[in-house]
Amino acid sequence: MSITPGTRMEYASLSEKQLGAIMEIEKEAYPEPWTISMFREEMQSKRSHFYLAFVEGELIGYSGFWLVLDEAHITSLTVAAKHRGAGYGREQLMHLLSLAEELGVRAFTLEVRESNESARKLYDSAGFHAVDLRKGYYASTGEDAVVMLKEMT
Ligand SMILES: CC(C)(COP(=O)(O)OP(=O)(O)OC[C@H]1O[C@@H](n2cnc3c(N)ncnc32)[C@H](O)[C@@H]1OP(=O)(O)O)[C@@H](O)C(=O)NCCC(=O)NCCS
Repeated sequence: MSITPGTRMEYASLSEKQLGAIMEIEKEAYPEPWTISMFREEMQSKRSHFYLAFVEGELIGYSGFWLVLDEAHITSLTVAAKHRGAGYGREQLMHLLSLAEELGVRAFTLEVRESNESARKLYDSAGFHAVDLRKGYYASTGEDAVVMLKEMT
């Protein structure tokens, strides 16, 4: 499966019944995965905009942002390991950007591991640029986080 003109990606809200599948993707994707309670908190939070992405009925990833006034902070952009490199990461990012535009978002920020080349390349190509470095941000590895910003015009 990959993005072709006929591919229909469907989005749904975060739901309790998908938490098992989400946790499998999450544990594989991150050295410091979110816990199940963190996903439950997203479901409760008014500032959270979080979307599950499905292709042909299969959960292939998820993404979200927190909205505070007119600023959005990307909290997750994740594609299941077996579905990477097929365009689903970019598609989800574009989905977040277009929703945020409708909500009047002025600027997007995010943190990304310094060594995460594929994500940084994706964000660069979507108009984000590095504005800061958070030293030792990731506790388990001590790795720095690059803070990236995109201003909506
Ligand atoms: C980062 C991530 C979301 C990208 O999703 P994806 O579906 O694999 O990416 P896409 O196929 O949409 O590719 C989009 C762009 O990302 C970059 N990219 C993707 N895979 C790459 C790789 N292996 N090496 C270098 N660049 C890569 C490219 O710029 C690509 O654009 P191109 O195809 O025009 O060259 C995915 O790798 C992932 O879930 N990683 C683990 C979780 C994570 O680190 N999330 C980011 C947190 S900040």
